[in-house]
Amino acid sequence: MSIIYDDKEKIFLINTIETTYAIGIMGQYLVHLYWGKRISGKFSINDIMPYVSRPYASIFRKDVNPYSNECLPMEYPAFGSCDPRYPAIEIDYGDGNFLNLEYTGYIIYRGKHKIDSLPSSFGTENEVTTLEIELTDKTKNTQVVLMYSVFEEMNVITRSVKINNLGTEDIIVDKVLSASVDFFENDFQMISLSGAWARERHIEKIDLHHGNTMIESRRGASSHQLNPFIALARKGATETYGDVFSMNFVYSGNFVAGAEVDHYQMTRMYMGINPFNFSWKLSPGKVFQSPEVIMVYSDEGLGKMSRVYHDFFREHICKSKYSKKVRPILINNWEATYYDFNEEKLIKLAKKAKEIGVEMIVLDDGWFGERNDPSSSLGDWYVNKSKLPNGIDGLAKKIDEIDMKFGIWVEPEMISEKSVLFGKHPDWVMGSCSEYISEGRNQYILDLSNPEVCEYIIDVLSDLFSSAKISYVKWDMNRSMNEVNSRYIDNDRQKEVAHRYILGLYYILDTLTERFPNILFEGCAGGGGRFDAGMLYYMPQIWTSDCTDAIERLYIQYGTSLVYPALSMGAHVSVVPNHQLGRTTSIETRINVALLGQFGLELDVEKCSDEELSHLRKGIAKYKELREIIQFGDMYRLCSPFDSNSASWEFISKDKKDILVFNFCIFTNANPKFSFLHLQGLEEDAIYYDEEHNIKLSGSVLMRNGISLLNTEDYKSEMLHFKMI
Ligand code: DGJ
Repeated sequence: MSIIYDDKEKIFLINTIETTYAIGIMGQYLVHLYWGKRISGKFSINDIMPYVSRPYASIFRKDVNPYSNECLPMEYPAFGSCDPRYPAIEIDYGDGNFLNLEYTGYIIYRGKHKIDSLPSSFGTENEVTTLEIELTDKTKNTQVVLMYSVFEEMNVITRSVKINNLGTEDIIVDKVLSASVDFFENDFQMISLSGAWARERHIEKIDLHHGNTMIESRRGASSHQLNPFIALARKGATETYGDVFSMNFVYSGNFVAGAEVDHYQMTRMYMGINPFNFSWKLSPGKVFQSPEVIMVYSDEGLGKMSRVYHDFFREHICKSKYSKKVRPILINNWEATYYDFNEEKLIKLAKKAKEIGVEMIVLDDGWFGERNDPSSSLGDWYVNKSKLPNGIDGLAKKIDEIDMKFGIWVEPEMISEKSVLFGKHPDWVMGSCSEYISEGRNQYILDLSNPEVCEYIIDVLSDLFSSAKISYVKWDMNRSMNEVNSRYIDNDRQKEVAHRYILGLYYILDTLTERFPNILFEGCAGGGGRFDAGMLYYMPQIWTSDCTDAIERLYIQYGTSLVYPALSMGAHVSVVPNHQLGRTTSIETRINVALLGQFGLELDVEKCSDEELSHLRKGIAKYKELREIIQFGDMYRLCSPFDSNSASWEFISKDKKDILVFNFCIFTNANPKFSFLHLQGLEEDAIYYDEEHNIKLSGSVLMRNGISLLNTEDYKSEMLHFKMI
């Protein structure tokens, strides 16, 4: 059993194959005992808990509890119970009372319940076991249930928190984080993924200092700027060595995550819905459940942490039937035509792409309403017949005739002022209680906290998706929230709007993905502005970034791979000079970068030279041959572009028989030194052979000595394919 309760010692032990997480009951409080490499043997709380009563530390209800919470590692710290550190929960009773949570019981069961209205990890009774620990504020009858689900084989624990108002009055939940973990030490670096539009998820590492080191989103989406992921790496930890404790949020809206170091050099790590502009009125009998946090501990650095996440996403987060299937190679017309296309142009593009092996064409923005630029028509999801006289159905049929799949772009959460929909329903716009509403990319946001709006979107998209043979949908979203209010919601609940919007979005996605299980959905938010586990639950791949420049993509895809697997990252070959950065890179390098994710094209193949077409044809054939290794194998990062002038990856099939090595030189210098790529994860004694480069070496030589490389040319890349012989 992966969860054990020792009644005598009052300890909960949560074990995965390689890790242990331990919680104890001290007095009436729940304390955090341990998180790390798996431990065995019996112990008591007193054996491992160094408690001293410190000056200035207060004690709550000395009659029943001899300890100061400020001096203890708390399992779920509540504001108002003598722990002035960053709390996980704050409840406003409106009468001056504070939440005082006492331990009142637990249950353990096999399997895991779905979180109501939210995406969450899933698994069978053999794969996951759940512990629910009940804490109660007896004065007010508020029950807080801490949920821990243990995926033993995966080395993953997930956490979420449920609040039940069993009292007789409304209560206001001002803050409810999903996970909080206290450590007795502070010698950590915090690693996070930061960026901007077209520069998403660059790796940032900072030493913790006294006080709070926090990342958050206040934009209504998980954001381009900061991804809902943090890791605390014990100082000295690297890609392959050392302790790393990490959290990733299964949520697509405003979040907060961070680590606070206190005056005793203790660290509190946390993650949850951002309390900024949030509160939730919980009436008697009602329940609020927080989104889930995925917690991964690695004793072998960041690389192992990433591989745990990658397996977990493939097995227990992405619910689409495509999550474990090889996906089609697509061409998207966006950078090829932007808004300037018609049926004839699209058919020509599709035919040419088909000739070189592409399997699907995706029609991007501009096919509906009067949309010829970004200034109008969002909301009017009917076809523009001057561009597509035979409608979507007519176009899809012609694509089908050339034996290609057809996909379509939508941006359903948005509305343009210049649209028929806005004329009919100006009150459906988020922010419409404000005197002025800001525009972002000329558009407003539909108020998804209003169920009528959600039903409208579901109906209009259901009509579209069933009107033609549509195999794929790209779901875009191109602005941040600013005026976060809703005409539909009562005035005293306006701070619920940002979360209710996300619940509305999840309701729409739940309904549509259930109704159209054969459609492959790809998420997008101006590129990677909503690249998170919440979206991946519904859509097994996401357009990683609007930047298609091969070199910038090395950084973006490297950072993204810290958490998210290669098969979740849309990666397309585009033209040079690149449309976003103006940089020119070779076709080989552009292909090699796209091979690291969900390979596709984003260029006008009609305008490609014969030489470029020949490279593309070979690249596509190669991807078809190798995609199972990239999409379902193990990924090792061998060299970081953030720490050097090059970037390298290794993918290895689960049976260890096929190894792909990618190396990219970003900048060279005169007389460069030799770089040695030390491969990882191979069979020591097996012999591996790369036929193209005629290299035959044992696993141990490839791992210990490595392959020598001379990075002699800017933007040059190479790929090696070793097979076990
Ligand atoms: C932003 C997306 O990221 C692009 O790929 C493209 O679909 C545009 N929107 C279309 O407006």
